[in-house]
Amino acid sequence: METIVPEQVETLKKQFQTDLAGVKDLAALSALRDKYMGRKSGLVHALIKQIGRVPREERRAFGQAVNELKTYVESSLERLRADLEARVQAEQLERERVDITLPGLRPRFGHPHPITRMRQRIEDIFVAMGYTVEDGPEVETSFYNFDALNIPPGHPAREAQDTLYLSSDIALRTQTSTVQIRTMERRRPPLRIIAPGKVFRRDTPDPTHNPMFYQVEGLTVDRNIHMGHLKGTLQEFVRRMFGPEVKTRFRPSYFPFVEPGAEVDYSCFLCFGRGCRVCKGAGWIELGGCGMVHPKVLRGVGIDPEEFTGFAFGLGIDRMAALIYGIDDIRLLYENDTRFLEQFGL
Ligand code: DAH
Repeated sequence: METIVPEQVETLKKQFQTDLAGVKDLAALSALRDKYMGRKSGLVHALIKQIGRVPREERRAFGQAVNELKTYVESSLERLRADLEARVQAEQLERERVDITLPGLRPRFGHPHPITRMRQRIEDIFVAMGYTVEDGPEVETSFYNFDALNIPPGHPAREAQDTLYLSSDIALRTQTSTVQIRTMERRRPPLRIIAPGKVFRRDTPDPTHNPMFYQVEGLTVDRNIHMGHLKGTLQEFVRRMFGPEVKTRFRPSYFPFVEPGAEVDYSCFLCFGRGCRVCKGAGWIELGGCGMVHPKVLRGVGIDPEEFTGFAFGLGIDRMAALIYGIDDIRLLYENDTRFLEQFGL
């Protein structure tokens, strides 16, 4: 007994040192603490419990040795715990290190849709010429879409535009010409307005057609307005939109709400009339319809056609956007595929 007891302490200390050297992380450290210092089955506590059973004359020395071991184990565990924690923290700091000298990530800016940009360019040009921008509903009555525009029931023009009806009298507007009527009902001449917006027709989608597309309507009503004002205004518009060399030409045409009516073309902004890919060899590109406001239309909104005359025009925004941005299928403009739209940043 005499020599066995201090030996036990010594052996346990060696065992502890070996175990301690094998500890690599805090979980293993905690397990080691339980193994040696656990209240119930810890190896050091097992020795402490033995103190009482050691012969009186050796008890003091044994007790002291056990106590020293306990202190040694505790302080070793504590030191290793501090080391491990410091290492964990250092690793975390290293892992989360931010290189503040790296250039930042550039935020991705959005940009207006090509149609929106085209509409804004059109608005800017007409606003600079003294026009104001008007708006009107996309869901319309037959009155505004047809009757007030001199297209009575049974009129062939009513069938020519494949209308999307919501009920017998209510439809999605087929033309922005509706805003001519709505504006003239509210305001007296002199009037100079444009009305850009969506229109709808029962068309089968193909590269040049979509059931929803965009028009911009124009209307000028004042004293002594004549065809020359119409031609000058549209010529100035294409000059500002497509360039100083671009010309217009007017071909007689028929629209029930104008007399005379015309279709207006502009010379191709790429080949200036010689014929190319953009104008499909024609040299000219269609801009839209126009004419002098029909006296019946003026009378219908209570404007005396003897006192006032006016001109109107309706242009396709989509087609202009497609040509300017080189888009060969207008349906791409409505699919909102960002891979497509991203190409048209400012
Ligand atoms: N509203 C016609 C259409 O959608 C276009 C148009 C033609 C508008 C002649 C006009 C105009 O203002 O005078 O086909």
